[in-house]
Amino acid sequence: VIDIAKLYGQTGMFTYDPGFTSTASCESQITYIDGDEGVLLYRGYPIEQLAESDFLETCYLLLYGELPTAAQKADFDYRVTRHTMVHEQMSRFFHGFRRDAHPMSVLVASVGALSAFYHDSTDISDPQQRMIASIRMIAKIPTLAAMAYKYSIGQPFVYPKNDLDYASNFLRMCFSVPCEEYKVNPILSRAIDRIFILHADHEQNASTSTVRLAGSSGANPFACIAAGIACLWGPAHGGANEAALKMLGEIGSVDRIPEFINRAKDKNDPFRLMGFGHRVYKNYDPRAKIMQRTCHEVLGELGIKDDPLLDIAVELERIALQDEYFVERKLYPNIDFYSGITLRALGFPTSMFTVLFALARTVGWIGQWKEMIEDPSQRIGRPRQLYTGATQRDYVPIARRK
Ligand code: ACO
Repeated sequence: VIDIAKLYGQTGMFTYDPGFTSTASCESQITYIDGDEGVLLYRGYPIEQLAESDFLETCYLLLYGELPTAAQKADFDYRVTRHTMVHEQMSRFFHGFRRDAHPMSVLVASVGALSAFYHDSTDISDPQQRMIASIRMIAKIPTLAAMAYKYSIGQPFVYPKNDLDYASNFLRMCFSVPCEEYKVNPILSRAIDRIFILHADHEQNASTSTVRLAGSSGANPFACIAAGIACLWGPAHGGANEAALKMLGEIGSVDRIPEFINRAKDKNDPFRLMGFGHRVYKNYDPRAKIMQRTCHEVLGELGIKDDPLLDIAVELERIALQDEYFVERKLYPNIDFYSGITLRALGFPTSMFTVLFALARTVGWIGQWKEMIEDPSQRIGRPRQLYTGATQRDYVPIARRK
């Protein structure tokens, strides 16, 4: 007989909450979501308004709590651009991977390896080191992401160019080649900057909670961000845009949509509409609306008049939003529904989609990690369990076991 009170070392209330659907793990002042109303605020500012700002301004806001003055912004941009290079030894580290390695596995490993190259910013008790680690992470993640991409396609790494803005620099590191002049298209660069803003933070989602849990043990920030990237990779989280695009390709034509809708509703079929539904949003994901607009802008700029996948996506959304199954369960398109089409049009292969998400979310992870470290009530995260295994029994030597 198990004495529950003794087992849990307490006699008070013990909650069992699989998936943490109703358990707050921390206090935070960074991001607010009203899932019923479809509202997302970073430090109080609506995502719709911030989507018109620039990504580094949003980074500053997430990290420091206020929008920067012009002087603060210039100083922040300078500090970030100073750290865009990665240690030259990192390129050797990259060359150890197989060419066909998924860029996410390369990113997890290379971000984890940063602590081996920058041990002067791993002492989390030192505010100065914490600040440098934060800036380094935001500055270097585009360089590492672009290196992961270039390595996967067998092209030489492109060094950062610090007179470009954050998004343009990233596009250039991904798409320029030494033998040709590369001009960044400002409309596409603006689109990618906006995509970064939309993904910058989303309170205590699985990857952010992973970063906080890893950080609660005192692990260094680079290791914590690597843990967040690993968690983000799953198809139910950051891998959903890749899965959504794959699904649209599988559907193949508008007339096959009802077949896939029926599969999504069939409880004996594991198939789900990827890019649909959200743990918190029980209304339209506000980021999805901005993403849809950005998608049209990008396709328009690139002169892509008819994208069959976009046609399928628009029609799928229309049909699903009229279907009782989706209406009853409050399943709406999430940010991933249109982001795959947009990123593909921008020239990224599907294997890079989650990498781009990780790049943008890095500031959110860092901001949340910093907030946790600076919180005096912070303790190591240690969820409990509801033990359902065997009660105490005696060991039997193998020769006597039946
Ligand atoms: N297609 C079909 N049915 C769905 C879908 C979907 N995409 N999402 C949820 N449902 C159904 C479930 O089967 C369940 O039905 P039931 O009540 O009859 O059993 C009900 O809706 C509730 O679903 P849960 O899985 O309990 O919802 P949860 O909050 O745990 O999951 C999640 C949210 C993981 C996002 C889910 O909606 C899903 O798998 N969506 C597809 C993957 C996806 O797009 N992920 C991206 C999330 S956003 C992000 O990470 C940036």
